[in-house]
Amino acid sequence: MEPILPGAPWLIAHKSMLGINKPNKITLNGRDYVIWQNTKGEVFALDNVCPHMQAPLSNGWICQDRNTIACPFHALEFDGKGRLYHQDKKDIQPITKPLDIIVSNDCIWTYGGFEPRLPIPELHQQVIDEYQFLGVCGEKSIQGDFLSNMMVNYDYNHQNGTHKDLFKITSCNVTAFEPQGYYAKVAQDLTRSDNTWQEIFKNPVVGILPKIMQNKLEYAFPSTTVLFSQAPIADIAQIHILYPETEKTTKAFILMYTKVMHPVMKLLFKNSILQAAATVIEQDSTAVETLYPREKAKIRLPNEEIMFYAEKLYRDW
Ligand code: FES
Ligand SMILES: [Fe+2]
Repeated sequence: MEPILPGAPWLIAHKSMLGINKPNKITLNGRDYVIWQNTKGEVFALDNVCPHMQAPLSNGWICQDRNTIACPFHALEFDGKGRLYHQDKKDIQPITKPLDIIVSNDCIWTYGGFEPRLPIPELHQQVIDEYQFLGVCGEKSIQGDFLSNMMVNYDYNHQNGTHKDLFKITSCNVTAFEPQGYYAKVAQDLTRSDNTWQEIFKNPVVGILPKIMQNKLEYAFPSTTVLFSQAPIADIAQIHILYPETEKTTKAFILMYTKVMHPVMKLLFKNSILQAAATVIEQDSTAVETLYPREKAKIRLPNEEIMFYAEKLYRDW
């Protein structure tokens, strides 16, 4: 496939998603990689195709003592640099390609082998300086191209349709939009109607969300959207991550951070917060997956320039 936005930094996983000594397969821009983390928390990533007879290394296993990955077909072992390991020694030259990764604040970034065109966004560091990590949720491979998925995050008219269920959003008002190159800030007021007791019982966090939510959003094109919101239990920063797996599928997940939260509140609400955020991805992905092929819109809504700003960055890349 033609690579999507070559040279963009992509956040392919958070360390907490990888497990320990477990091979994980990730797909970026049409290429498969195997990625694993050892007991020391070091992360390694290789091309997923075994250089012997092309078996998928991600179906293999990690040999803990030697920190190698064994191929599921003939059990040849490779270290994290792609060097063949045999009889207690390693070849000097790699025979399969490692994927260059940058690990920062437990987030694993890569340029997918392309010359970097943008730095790793500072936005992530800003969140980490002020908030504590709560967890990852909503990991999903969405049937839909990257552009359609990304544009949903910049669409300020879909909240009262797409997020009507559970979040009961009835209107969205944009109070500020400040684009600055690849970065942008938006302020929005969301109005909600009442949740039913059943909904609150199933997902307690919706019971404490205010009726008018004044959110701030910050964007680092193309990978990151951060939603800053205030709930009575804690300030929340949700980092929505997207990256192109193939031409037709897009990976999404949310990294959830909160400001100091009382341990009892954390115990009571952690799962509910993560579950509610995962619902957001579910709802957005349903919207994308059920669309008919795009045609020129015959109607325009307010604030669509925010969406077109992101589309322009994509098309002018
Ligand atoms: S295909 Fe991997 S060891 Fe043979
Ligand atoms: Fe959405």
